[in-house]
Amino acid sequence: MGRLDGKTAIITGTAQGTGEVLARVFAEEGAKLVLGDVQEERGRAVADEIGEAARFVRLDVGAQGDWSRAVDLAVAEFGGVDVLVNNAAILLMKSFDEITPEDFLRIVQVNQLGPLLGMQAVLPVMKAREGGSIVNIASTDGIKGMNGVAAYASSKWAVRGLTKSAAIELGKYAIRVNAVCPEAGNPNMSAPFFPGNPDLSDVPHQMMQQILKDPKPVVPGSRLRDVANMALFLASDESRSCTAADFVVDAGLTAGWYQKGVPSA
Ligand SMILES: NC(=O)c1ccc[n+]([C@@H]2O[C@H](COP(=O)([O-])OP(=O)(O)OC[C@H]3O[C@@H](n4cnc5c(N)ncnc54)[C@H](O)[C@@H]3O)[C@@H](O)[C@H]2O)c1
Repeated sequence: MGRLDGKTAIITGTAQGTGEVLARVFAEEGAKLVLGDVQEERGRAVADEIGEAARFVRLDVGAQGDWSRAVDLAVAEFGGVDVLVNNAAILLMKSFDEITPEDFLRIVQVNQLGPLLGMQAVLPVMKAREGGSIVNIASTDGIKGMNGVAAYASSKWAVRGLTKSAAIELGKYAIRVNAVCPEAGNPNMSAPFFPGNPDLSDVPHQMMQQILKDPKPVVPGSRLRDVANMALFLASDESRSCTAADFVVDAGLTAGWYQKGVPSA
């Protein structure tokens, strides 16, 4: 028995990184999938590897017409939509004073407008199904700040606001809306913004060891699986009492910091 047996999910940004892991985990748990991304070749390859349970659609999350095609495909192939995971996003790392209006609006278009359009697009079909679960992937940058990410972080704070407001409006249709705030993501997302495009693959794991030590060696990519498992819980009926909430997956990183020299266990 899969935890998503009988459910159809649309997941965005599945050509690589967290979205790819999400797609594979959801498929393992029995979901039918419509996978959307702007990277057609890689996106289609992921769907093909998953097999019969998955379809790929070219989906720019900031384009309303693309959403209609994705929802129509889910209805035609699998009969409806039960789950939406708004995962696709883009990053900008730039000094606060150098962010242009064009930079800012590009981030808003994908990271903020994208999830709104997605939720609006699935609403009629989720209503027809008499319920559903929407999972919006935010970030720990949506609960704190950091240098270099004013545009990105504010878009992720916005995702949490969007999540709560939508959950309050859609609750009467038995549609749940939650946000996941991961620390870990695909390190390649931020690598281009560092001089020399360094290998950052171990950074999420090192960062997340600051509070919660992991005595077992972590398999590469397993931090992304932790994020996918949270989304899986929220997509499934196991989380039926959860809506309008933030689910932080950060190994305690945003709780505060450990002050050396002060009494401690
Ligand atoms: N990378 C990190 O460190 C990190 C940390 C916390 C949260 N996140 C969040 O996790 C989610 C997944 O990011 P990731 O780390 O896997 O990065 P990623 O860059 O590997 O994946 C993002 C995916 O979204 C796709 N995409 C970009 N623009 C799109 C658009 N307009 N329409 C559809 N698809 C589009 C990309 O092609 C890519 O496949 C994002 O919401 C991101 O903000 C990332």
